Order: sequence, then C-alpha cells, then structure tokens
Amino acid sequence: MMHRVVFLGPPGAGKGTQAAQIARDLKVPHLSTGDLLRTAVAARTPLGLEAEGYMRAGGLVPDALVLKILHERLELPDARVGYLLDGFPRNLAQAEALGTFAEIDRVISLDVSPDLLVRRLSERRVCSKCQSVYNLSTKPPKSDGKCDLDGTPLVQRPDDRAEAVTNRLKVYAEQTAPLLDYYEKRHLLRSVDASGTPDEVAARVRRALA
Ligand code: AP5
Ligand code: MG
Repeated sequence: MMHRVVFLGPPGAGKGTQAAQIARDLKVPHLSTGDLLRTAVAARTPLGLEAEGYMRAGGLVPDALVLKILHERLELPDARVGYLLDGFPRNLAQAEALGTFAEIDRVISLDVSPDLLVRRLSERRVCSKCQSVYNLSTKPPKSDGKCDLDGTPLVQRPDDRAEAVTNRLKVYAEQTAPLLDYYEKRHLLRSVDASGTPDEVAARVRRALA
C-alpha cells in the first residue's frame, strides 16, 4: 500500500477532486497546500496576509511560507501514517526540501489538454465557508448557487479569473512541469489521462497506484 503520494498536474487538472477520493482509499489525509493557504487567507493570519497577493495574481507563494504551513500540518498526528500531497511540491526547490524529510512512494501526474483546463477553471465554483468544489456544468450544486453541505453561497476563486488563470498555466509550465522529469528519473512517476468523468479518472489513478 502506498502511504506517501504526490499529485502533480496543472491548475484545473482535477487534483483536489481526485485526491479527496484516493486519500480515502489509502486511509491517509489529503494535504493541499492551496487549501491550507486559502484557510490562512480567510483567517487573516500573518502568513495568510503575506500569501494573499501572490495567490490572487496566480504566482507561487514563496517557498519558506509554504514549507512553514506544510510542516505545521505534518505535525498533526493523522499525518504520521502518510499523506497524499496535492499541489506540493511545485518547483525544484520544494521537491528537494521534500526529499529531506520524506520518502515518496509514488508521483501521479494528471494530464489534461489546455482547453479543457481553462473550461474546468472558468466553470468552477467553491463554497466560501467549507471550500467544497463544484462545477457549473459537470458538478452543479443541488440548489442554484448554494453549497450542498451548508447552504452558503458559492463564489469564484479569485485566481480563477481569466488573467490569473493565464499566469497560473505559465507558472506551471515554467516551474512545476520540470518536476515530471525529476520524478521520472527517480522512477516514481506515473502519468494518468485526466480527461473523462471523475470516476473514469479515479479508476486510472487506482491502477497507477497498484
Ligand atoms: P492550488 O489550490 O494548488 O491550485 P492549482 O494547482 O492551481 O489547482 P486547482 O486547485 O485550481 O485545480 P485542481 O487540479 O485541484 O482541480 P479541481 O479538482 O478543483 O494553488 C492555488 C495557489 O496557491 C497557487 O497559485 C499558489 O499561489 C499557491 N500555492 C499552493 N501550493 C503552493 C506551493 N506548493 N508553492 C507555492 N505556492 C503554492 O477541479 C477543477 C474543476 O474541474 C472543478 O470545478 C471540478 O469540479 C472540475 N473537475 C475536476 N475533475 C473533473 C472531471 N474529471 N470531469 C469534469 N469536471 C472535473
Ligand atoms: Mg485544487
């Protein structure tokens, strides 16, 4: 059984959607640095206030801040058994840092064409309270514009605006895509076609983790 897994993939590839299901299968917590950062922004912590501008523009938050928030989360007892990392590492420096404190069992790359990424991101809506993720065409809420779980209004993520999306895709290509080679060389990488329904993709991810 895999206990330390990394999900790589461009914005909108479905990392969060897949990680939620797969982490349950593996019985490990789903750790998304994006979710941890958004929680810090919402809580107006000093770290959140520092991170907010980078996120809004679709750039990377400085490594030191991301490593701090990740280390704090890894100290919670549930992470002792392992974890599924979603959105970390995102550049070579973060991959090197991860290598100093964890042995990764496998890296899954979720591959989606640029057109489909842009469509998924423009149609995404999230709960402003619990961060649950919806999609106007592929996963609409039961009641228009409201979260199924708590009825809170759904909003668009600030970085899902068109200008920020363009920047996020560029940052992915320049800084994160080199990690595919990095993990391929270490024989840890499995690429998965992440088009199709969430269940179809999950079946492919499960095969890649077997
Ligand atoms: P982060 O939150 O990690 O965002 P991201 O990488 O841009 O990825 P997304 O969350 O946008 O997409 P996803 O792949 O999770 O897709 P989802 O499942 O939601 O990071 C945000 C920001 O935080 C960064 O820009 C940066 O500023 C900062 N940050 C985070 N980590 C950092 C780090 N390590 N270092 C530095 N900075 C960091 O799906 C998208 C949509 O598609 C949804 O609507 C969903 O319902 C739908 N969908 C998903 N799968 C399918 C499917 N199979 N079929 C149909 N629809 C689907
Ligand atoms: Mg996500």
